This record gives sequence, C-alpha cells and structure tokens, in this order.
Amino acid sequence: MSVKRLVVFSGSGISAESGIKTFREIGGLWEEYSIYDVATPEAWQKNKTLVLDFYNQRRKQVLEKQPNDGHFVCVDLENYFDVEIITQNIDDLHERAGSQKVLHLHGEIRKAQSSLNPNLIYEMDGWKIKLGDKCELGSQLRPHVVWFGEPVPKMDDAINIVSKADILVVVGTSLQVYPAAGLLNYCPNSCKVFLVDPNELDTSTFYQSIEHIKEKAGVGLPRLSKTLIENFA
Ligand code: APR
Repeated sequence: MSVKRLVVFSGSGISAESGIKTFREIGGLWEEYSIYDVATPEAWQKNKTLVLDFYNQRRKQVLEKQPNDGHFVCVDLENYFDVEIITQNIDDLHERAGSQKVLHLHGEIRKAQSSLNPNLIYEMDGWKIKLGDKCELGSQLRPHVVWFGEPVPKMDDAINIVSKADILVVVGTSLQVYPAAGLLNYCPNSCKVFLVDPNELDTSTFYQSIEHIKEKAGVGLPRLSKTLIENFA
C-alpha cells in the first residue's frame, strides 16, 4: 500500500501555545494594530518606519519563541505519511520543529525582500530591517510578507498540493482570509478533512464534511495523530 499524502494547513493558532499572538481573537494583533496602518502596500507608502517597526517586533518575538507540541506532532507524522505543511504563518516554528516540507503562503518574517523586485529575497541574521537598508538594486528592504491587497504567489503550488491530499488537517485558523481559506475546496472528494481549533468556526461555505476537534493544537493534534496513524497509516 502506498504512503498516504497528509497535508497540514496551519494558521496562527498552532503557534499560540508558543506564545505568539493570533490575529482576530480577543487580545489578538488586529485589535492592537489596524491592518490599514501596518499590513497593506498603502501603509508602506504612507509610513515605512511604522511598518518596519511592526514587523521588526514580530521578528524579534519569533526569534525568542520555541516550537510547541503541535509543531512536533506534525514532524512525527512524517514517520507514517507523506506530509506537506502549508502554513499561513510567517514564523519558522514548523521548520525549527523539524518539518521537511513547509510552504509559507503569507511569507516568512525572517527574510527581507526588495521593495522593487519581490523575487529578490534575503535571509536575515538579526531582527531589524532599518530605514536605509537596501537591496542590491538600491531600493529599501521590506519584510518578506504578503500584505492585504497583494497577490499570494504560492497559491498555485498550495492548490496543487491540496488537490492530491488523502488527509487534510486544518489547524489554528479562523478561515476568514482568502484566497488561503479557499484551499479547503480544492481537496478531492475522497479526502478526509479534520479541523483542530478550540473555538466554534463557521465552515458552512466549504463543500467537504469536516470533523471538528474542538481542542487547542497541543491537545487536539496529538489525539488526532493517534487516530490517523491507527486508521490510515
Ligand atoms: N490551538 C489551535 N487553534 C487555536 C489556538 C490553539 N492553541 N488558539 C487559538 N486558536 C485558533 C482560534 O480559535 C482561531 O480560529 O486560531 C485561530 C486564529 O485565527 P486568526 O487570528 O484569524 O489567524 P489566522 O487564521 O492564522 O489568520 C490568517 O490573516 O492577518 C492575516 O496574514 C495573517 O496569516 C494570517 C491570516
């Protein structure tokens, strides 16, 4: 029997137990900051210092945090399945936990990007991009993240991965941000879809039947993993 393809589609909730804030919950990042001030191309044009500072803080925080049990379960599943992670997160906690195949839909906070050519991407050592830091073309460096209103360049790759999934595990995302959330509609009819999230979510807009495990990632993922290994590996 061939190894089953398992896709994990993660959002900020999987990193919550590492101490990284989610976005739309009470106390979430978008309660503290306006999306329009820090996470759009217009915000960048209006106030580069504010935008750089916002993402510098995010980067500093990510460097201080560690992967949690939820991330490690995703790694362990590689012993039983062909696992691909598609994450909306800009942190690198999946990679630091040890996951082999991670696709970042919304960019990577530990990388900088040319503001002239989005294909010029640079690894960063520290946590700060400063005003005046330039790419090789001489333009200001910006964070390598996808802002609201920008295209999502990895979307086609993500659709391709989901369309071949035998099992889809959605974890820690409110499924409110498109096109990312629409990925659920690309999995084959035969695909088993699970959702791990402690809160009630409206999934009525998706075609698939979804089994909701209403737990935090650190509890729900180990439990689901056991079931998946027993029944599908
Ligand atoms: N384990 C699992 N899920 C959790 C946990 C946890 N410990 N804690 C919170 N959650 C869930 C919440 O119930 C919520 O459904 O995580 C979800 C977080 O939702 P959002 O804050 O909307 O974050 P996310 O879905 O990742 O946002 C998508 O929006 O702002 C943009 O680009 C940003 O990638 C982000 C995108």
